[in-house]
Amino acid sequence: MQAHIEAAWLDRLPATPIYRYAFAPEPFERLRDAGMCVARETVRPLAVEPVGDLKAALAAADVELHVLEDLLPLKGVWASTLHASGVRLRNAAGWNEPGWPDGRPRTTLRTARLTLRPFELEDAPRVVEIQSNWNVTRMLRMAPWPPTPALMREWLAAHAEEWRAGTGYRFAIVHGGALIGCADVDEIAAGEGSIGYWLDEAAWGRGFAAEAARAIIDFAFDQVGLTRLTSGHAADNPASGAVLRKLGFRPAGETRVWSRPRGCEIRQLRYDLGRPDTA
Ligand SMILES: CC(C)(COP(=O)(O)OP(=O)(O)OC[C@H]1O[C@@H](n2cnc3c(N)ncnc32)[C@H](O)[C@@H]1OP(=O)(O)O)[C@@H](O)C(=O)NCCC(=O)NCCS
Repeated sequence: MQAHIEAAWLDRLPATPIYRYAFAPEPFERLRDAGMCVARETVRPLAVEPVGDLKAALAAADVELHVLEDLLPLKGVWASTLHASGVRLRNAAGWNEPGWPDGRPRTTLRTARLTLRPFELEDAPRVVEIQSNWNVTRMLRMAPWPPTPALMREWLAAHAEEWRAGTGYRFAIVHGGALIGCADVDEIAAGEGSIGYWLDEAAWGRGFAAEAARAIIDFAFDQVGLTRLTSGHAADNPASGAVLRKLGFRPAGETRVWSRPRGCEIRQLRYDLGRPDTA
């Protein structure tokens, strides 16, 4: 295993107390994400010990520590099949510059009223609650019906890999500390992606979908570097069409698609939007 640190931070290593927490393995469950585990209940550590000399501890654990002037050249590692973890890399100078290669660290977006953060597995019960409303789920082409905690956890568990692969970025929409929905860009390929959103019915009619989708559009164009976005909505979902038109999407015909929750083909109205400097 390799670890990397910027030279300017090297002096802080011996000056920063770091503790090793030891836990019994039983309460932990494996995430399908490169050996990461999560416990769903409060877990008390069996032991908490100061690591002391971190450089020596890394060497003893057979971890090669590389000192670099700058970590930016490593960004491409997130686009590879290697597993890479980083702590607070989004705060590193230049890390979030436009034109970033795929595999950027999972990031949080903020709007005037909303926080858009990556989903966590712990969000599953709330997602089930929101999608247990047929008025919401019948409009979602790929959503299972009825939603179950296991299906939603499976969906959530796939997000990190999509993010790492650069094929999809899904954000939980949080308002007043509560998760109220999702906004995402997915099906990313060849500089194009598809945006989508859904909200708890209690949150409809306050402009939240347009506000969240606007942040996703900016993220997709400015941070992911896409040049064209598409979207589509069921023909019987005029509210979604209104959101897309408010955001500048242009109608692009219609097609027939399979609706998983309805279990039948439906008519879907298509839209697209070019990045302003390429349109
Ligand atoms: C579609 C959805 C995300 C909209 O969320 P929202 O926060 O209410 O959206 P906004 O408030 O930003 O905008 C809704 C727009 O639709 C309009 N609208 C609402 N109901 C409408 C209807 N029946 N017919 C026409 N327009 C309608 C609103 O007037 C508003 O437009 P305006 O701002 O120009 O007045 C929400 O209804 C939802 O989650 N639906 C279920 C899931 C879904 O449909 N997702 C999209 C799949 S394509």
